[in-house]
Amino acid sequence: MLIRRPHLRGIPSSEITPEGLYHNRREFLKTVAVGLAAAAVTTILPASALAAPAPEAARLRGKYDTDEKLTPYENVTTYNNYYEFGVDKEDPSNNAKNFKPRPWTVSVEGLVKKPAVYALDDLIKGFTMEDRIYRMRCVEAWSMVIPWLGFPLAALIKRLDPLPSAKFVEFKTLYDPNQMFEQKRPLLEWPYTEGLRMDETVNPLTLMAVGLYGKSLPNQNGAPFRLVVPWKYGFKGAKSVVKIRFTDKQPRTAWSVANPSEYGFYSNVNPEVDHPRWTQSRERRLGEFFPRKTLMFNGYGDYVASMYSGMDLKKYF
Ligand code: MTE
Repeated sequence: MLIRRPHLRGIPSSEITPEGLYHNRREFLKTVAVGLAAAAVTTILPASALAAPAPEAARLRGKYDTDEKLTPYENVTTYNNYYEFGVDKEDPSNNAKNFKPRPWTVSVEGLVKKPAVYALDDLIKGFTMEDRIYRMRCVEAWSMVIPWLGFPLAALIKRLDPLPSAKFVEFKTLYDPNQMFEQKRPLLEWPYTEGLRMDETVNPLTLMAVGLYGKSLPNQNGAPFRLVVPWKYGFKGAKSVVKIRFTDKQPRTAWSVANPSEYGFYSNVNPEVDHPRWTQSRERRLGEFFPRKTLMFNGYGDYVASMYSGMDLKKYF
């Protein structure tokens, strides 16, 4: 993972949800979210949502939302890591334009009662799409605040009904070198793979996202379906997931296979465990000049620290 300065390329204004409009619409969204799930992946919002009367400006914050300033849509969608589309931050937004996130299937495998290949719409049918503002911290020491749209992974786990022997969940992403040219090179072990321990998958913070800023996920952010785990470094957030496998063994993960001394399985944000090549105690929020202090578990300790009690987090980094 290389460090580059943010590249703020202009994108068509039609692609951008202005932040003010987003904030008002967010309240509206809350009232229409139920039932949108089936439509979510294709359009997320009916066009009429934009024109709907905006409720009062006061923002009702959800339990898990941060009230920090949102990172502008331009940064969120042009400063990306998605190695299948190139290794520089601006590559994914430039190179993923023709990627086809539809139709999309997800194969559910392993120690689970309902294994099958599901059409994405069927897999997520009936789930309430929630609008969650999360702080995201990348291992490369930059961070963002992103308004995701998605549903708790716990709901999907419940629907799929894992066997008691399942201890971990592996997420595999799309392997399609014809669409993802970098998969023709052995940059990483393809397809990009991530994993979580079972209790981490059902933690209420863990989301499967289908959108951000109230719109469908842009290709470069992992369309149509990606993992978001806000207390872990960004690379845990596997993009364009096509396989969910329940297993009794800790899964291999793309970065820990590539460089086991630098990237561990847990990858919890931890200011006390430095990356071998740089400090993890500070971060630079995109759009800000002065660095900030990085918070343990990215500030989500109240919700997640108990999952790791008794573990040596220097060893299980
Ligand atoms: N998923 C896939 N399939 N391929 C990738 O290269 N990069 C990861 C993660 N998910 C990656 C991926 C890394 S290193 C980061 S920091 C986040 O995606 C970045 O997500 P964002 O571009 O939406 O901010």
